[in-house]
Amino acid sequence: METNNILEFICNIPKAELHVHIEGTFEPELMFEIAARNHITLKYRDVEALREAYQFRNLQEFLDIYYIGSRALKTERDFYDLTTSYLTKAASQNILHTEIFFDPQTHHENGVAFPVVFTGIYDALQDAEKNLGIHGDVIMCFLRHLDEASAFATLQQALPFKDKIIGVGLDSSESGNPPHKFVRVFEAARQAGFVAVAHAGEEGPVDYIHDSLDLLKISRIDHGNNSKDDALLIQKIAQQRIPLTMCPLSNLKLQVVKDLRHHPLKTLLDNKVVATVNSDDPAYFGGYLNENYIAIQQALELWHDDIITLAKNSFEASFIDAAQKQTYIKRIDTFVSDFNAS
Ligand code: HPA
Ligand code: ZN
Repeated sequence: METNNILEFICNIPKAELHVHIEGTFEPELMFEIAARNHITLKYRDVEALREAYQFRNLQEFLDIYYIGSRALKTERDFYDLTTSYLTKAASQNILHTEIFFDPQTHHENGVAFPVVFTGIYDALQDAEKNLGIHGDVIMCFLRHLDEASAFATLQQALPFKDKIIGVGLDSSESGNPPHKFVRVFEAARQAGFVAVAHAGEEGPVDYIHDSLDLLKISRIDHGNNSKDDALLIQKIAQQRIPLTMCPLSNLKLQVVKDLRHHPLKTLLDNKVVATVNSDDPAYFGGYLNENYIAIQQALELWHDDIITLAKNSFEASFIDAAQKQTYIKRIDTFVSDFNAS
C-alpha cells in the first residue's frame, strides 16, 4: 500500500464511535441559534468569542464551560437538533455505528425533565437511521461529582425507557470522586439490565481503573490512559478483551498528555489491548472522529494496519450483537481490498 494515501484511508474506512458526549457536540453556531429561540442570553458576544474561551488547563476548567453551554438546551426539539447535527457529521465521516453518552442530571438541574431529553435524542437516532444510514445507541452517565442519592433518582427516571438505553456510565470530575461512591447504584443498574462503563484513569489514578473493573463491574473503560504504567493491568485487559475508548484530541486539550507523541495508544495496541479512538467532546476539542484518527496517526506514525485494527476494534468493543459485529468487520475487509485494488 502506498503511504501517501493514509488520510483518504482514514476518512473512508467504516468505523464506530463509542465515546462521545452529546452535550460535547454542541457547536457554538447551534448554541447561539438555540439560545436565541429559547430567549437565553449567552455570556459571550458571538461565536468567535465563545470559541476563544475554549482553552483549558485541565478537566475541571472544561467541565465548567461545558455545563454552562448545556443550559441553552430546553426542549425536545433542542435535543433532537443537537443529536441530528452530530449524526449528520458522524455519517459524513463514515461512522456506521455510534454509542452516545448523555448527562441527565445536568439537564435536571437546568429544569429539563428526563423524558424531554431522552425523547429528543432517541427520535433523532430513529430518523438518522432512516435518512442517513447510521445506527446509534444511548448510554446515560451519572455525574460523579453528585451523590449516590442523585444517581439513584436518575436511575429511577430512566427505568420507563430502559429497553431503549443500552448502558450506564460515569463521567464529570474524576479526581476525588472514586468509583466506590457508586457501587450500589451500578449494582442496581446492572440488575435492571444495563451494561456498565465508566470514565477511569483520565486524570484519576490507576486504582480508579482497578476499582471500576472490580467494584462497578464495567465492561469497557472510558479513557484509561493511566493504565499505561501498570503492566499487570495491561495484561489483564488485553487477555479479557476489556476495551478502552481513548480520545486523543481531548487528552491534548485537557493536558492529560502534553504532546500526542507521548500518547499511550500505540503501546497499548502493541500489547494487544482492544483500544479505540473517539472524539469525546468534539465541539470543544477541535475535531470529530476522523480528525482524532489523523492527529494520532501523525503523532504516533500509525500505518494502514494500525488503522484497520482501530476500526475493527471499534466494532468489537461496541455493544451490538456478535452477528452485527461480524457484518461490520466484513465491510472493513471489503473496503480494504477495494482500496488496495484501486
Ligand atoms: N471526562 C469526564 N467527564 C466528561 C468528559 C471527560 O472527558 N467529557 C464530558 N464529560
Ligand atoms: Zn468522556
